[in-house]
Amino acid sequence: MTTEVQKNTTRKLFIESYGCAMNFADSEVVASIMAEVGVEITTEEMEADIIFINTCSIRDNAEQRIRNRLKHLRHNKKLNKKLTIGVLGCMAERLKKQLLEEEKLVDIVAGPDAYKELPILLQEVEEGHKAINVILSLEETYADIQPTRLNSNGVTAFISITRGCDNMCSFCVVPFTRGRERSRNPESILAEAKDLVAKGYKEVTLLGQNVDSYLWYGGGARKDFNKLTEEEQSSSISFAKLLEMVAQVDPSLRVRFSTSHPKDIHDEVLFVMQKYDNIAKHIHLPAQSGNSRILEKMNRTYTREWYEMKYNRIKELIPHCSISCDIITGFCSETEEDHQDTLDLMRTCEFEFSYMYFYSERPGTLAARKYEDDIPEEIKKKRLTEVIEVQHEVAKRLNKAQEGKVHRVLIEMQSKKNENEWMGRNEQNIKVIFPKANYKMGDYVDVRVERSTITSLIGVGVS
Ligand code: SAH
Ligand code: SF4
Ligand code: F3S
Repeated sequence: MTTEVQKNTTRKLFIESYGCAMNFADSEVVASIMAEVGVEITTEEMEADIIFINTCSIRDNAEQRIRNRLKHLRHNKKLNKKLTIGVLGCMAERLKKQLLEEEKLVDIVAGPDAYKELPILLQEVEEGHKAINVILSLEETYADIQPTRLNSNGVTAFISITRGCDNMCSFCVVPFTRGRERSRNPESILAEAKDLVAKGYKEVTLLGQNVDSYLWYGGGARKDFNKLTEEEQSSSISFAKLLEMVAQVDPSLRVRFSTSHPKDIHDEVLFVMQKYDNIAKHIHLPAQSGNSRILEKMNRTYTREWYEMKYNRIKELIPHCSISCDIITGFCSETEEDHQDTLDLMRTCEFEFSYMYFYSERPGTLAARKYEDDIPEEIKKKRLTEVIEVQHEVAKRLNKAQEGKVHRVLIEMQSKKNENEWMGRNEQNIKVIFPKANYKMGDYVDVRVERSTITSLIGVGVS
């Protein structure tokens, strides 16, 4: 597709990303597609001829942030009349044509499966039209695109392994903005991991909304396991197999993955984690709530007991595995007792860290259609504050318990607060800060922890 479009050697593109890691990974796909047609990538917003904003719709405030950003871009457009502005990603997909009507300065609207069309959309704009493509695909995985790494530290990188989501949690907009779930060809995943190793990268994170439901069989990206022939079923590649294959690429490549849905993470994945030292011992296992009635309303398909059973199984097989969580407060009909169940879950499970939000109704979702958004905002926020307080207590205690212990840390960047210190992460995905000494970016260092805070461990290199 892209070869039909004239090479354009004069234009410079600035890409700004919002939302989850998958959006950031997609921006790297977009950068690669645009570079193919001769567009140069710039990190200087003011020298750009094209600005792409890769957007997120997960909560109302995510969209408001982007609306504000677009307002600011009016100024850029005044200074440069020829500036092309494209809105990509989930908000483009959710609002479609409406976005062009509401935000007059926007020239291009492209949904997450339409990025290969961007050069053509750009050409339409050059011919004086507004351009839009929000068609969702059942097949597109961008497996054939080698991402151009943006703002890279040269040490850690994301690899997308699935796109879309079939889960239909009632609060969630993702199935509508990202479409049906599909898995990416494992060969292209392995090739990307090998290429990253050859370029000196030390860590990859395999990405998907629900990585544990990754499934590849004989040339098909869509999954419906029950409809496969016996032969296809036996030659299929599950997430556990894929994880093992990626772990085998290089023993010094640290492998992470995110996100795991409690209903889909199976023992096979845990066995592979046990077997390979280079698979980081951390699982992001969002619970969303600690109350079974709310979980049912959320359509999470597990109960509080099931969640705890999964949690205990992980800790039984991999005792030093950290588990992190996502929590939503004030979902439709949540009572004070339901909320107390969430606080109780957090005290029981002791998550190393959590991402915590108050419920934001998203138009078109199951919850928006079926349930009343009946918890007043101040109560949602009060509950959120309580959830954050419990998480902080827990994290403080867990981090304190690491003082005196030695952790293997991969150096990712200079500490933001002190230019004489490095920042890296241990296997459990906790930040570790320590003096630079003679260590360099990308080194694995054994660090003895001396102090700790809610969010990090502070120590000194001993290897
Ligand atoms: N696929 C992941 C999560 C993707 S969205 C999973 O299944 O867990 C990231 C997080 O945003 C969710 O885990 C949830 O906690 C939060 N979230 C999603 N929709 C939301 C909404 N409508 N209001 C508030 N938080 C929401
Ligand atoms: Fe949203 Fe649920 Fe899919 Fe996660 S699993 S992306 S929360 S629908
Ligand atoms: Fe946001 Fe879309 Fe990710 S809604 S969280 S950018 S999948």
